[in-house]
Amino acid sequence: MTSARTQPTQPDRTTHPTLAIVGVTGAVGQEFLRVLDQRSFPMGGLKLLASARSAGKTAEFRGKTLTIEELTEDSFAGVDIALFSAGGSISKKYAQAAIDAGAVVVDNSSAFRMTDGVPLVVPEVNADAITAANIGLGEGQVPGVIANPNCSTIIMLLAVTPIHRAVGVKRLVVSTYQAASGAGAAAMAELEQQTREVLEGRQPTCDIFPQQYAFNLFSHNSPVQPNGYNQEELKMVHETHKIWGEQGDNKTGITATCIRVPVMRAHAESINLTLDKPLSEDEAHKLLADAPGVSLIDDRENNRFPTPLDASHVDDVFVGRIRHDLSQPEGYGLDLFVCGDQVRKGAALNAVQIAELLVK
Ligand code: A2P
Repeated sequence: MTSARTQPTQPDRTTHPTLAIVGVTGAVGQEFLRVLDQRSFPMGGLKLLASARSAGKTAEFRGKTLTIEELTEDSFAGVDIALFSAGGSISKKYAQAAIDAGAVVVDNSSAFRMTDGVPLVVPEVNADAITAANIGLGEGQVPGVIANPNCSTIIMLLAVTPIHRAVGVKRLVVSTYQAASGAGAAAMAELEQQTREVLEGRQPTCDIFPQQYAFNLFSHNSPVQPNGYNQEELKMVHETHKIWGEQGDNKTGITATCIRVPVMRAHAESINLTLDKPLSEDEAHKLLADAPGVSLIDDRENNRFPTPLDASHVDDVFVGRIRHDLSQPEGYGLDLFVCGDQVRKGAALNAVQIAELLVK
């Protein structure tokens, strides 16, 4: 009896794309693996990329051991979606190679966020910014880049967009309390090391940040511009305008102060809003309770509100301290306190949600 050998069928690239993770050894890169697995992302293949330092190391994914390869311009053959999280200079250097190989790049860095024609996407807010045309999936077009916004911007917009859509935000004042994770795996390790050193009465090692981080806080480490704002603060302003589709005189007034605090991995934000139309506290509560990706912790009686630990390793952004701003006319001013996992919703989860929008 002869048996007919069936050819293994190739997975359909539109329903089961092949993914590459650029920067897989980093804090966000590692989270990509967890999020892809937890969300059962349909996948035809997975390529793990990092620097030459990591080439040959392995990582586990869905019960398989995968070998990490050095990122080169030839890394993207057969890749349909490339998730980049190795910093802006790597994105600038290698995104085109991925695009030339036929991949859509979902970029976690700031390299292309403000580039005209590049969608800047928080799926709960502006999934419609991704069109077949602007990422080149239309007939005869080449794939391009979709940018993942700044982590503090994403976390803020999950809480503020439902209010903006309902009554209009005229002015937004935000102060952040940002975790070590935003500066990468090495910064997280430095915070841990410094904490130990200070408790043991030793001089803290300052390799990543120029000043002591443990038992301290300081203005965000991004470069300060001539106008006195640091780059992180300006990202929150400009990216929000782009995501909300605001231009010219119609832009919401936004100002930000960004601070690095000795917390391991979730950012907190104090947000003050001036509204176009009045909104009661109850209405604000209801809007936020119904908002996708948002959970409330707002227990005045027990003084229990969101903390970075509540938000760590969790998908949702937590909101509490929902209250009228006493300095503004009744109903026209609102205060919020928000916590969100910077590595997860602020980076890896948001990028994977974008990738999900690309899969049929
Ligand atoms: P590697 O571990 O091999 O240096 P984080 O933001 O947590 O610090 O992570 C940065 C990520 O970017 C890491 O995965 C790191 O890989 C990767 N990376 C840094 N430089 C390069 C490079 N030249 N080529 C490829 N990946 C890089």
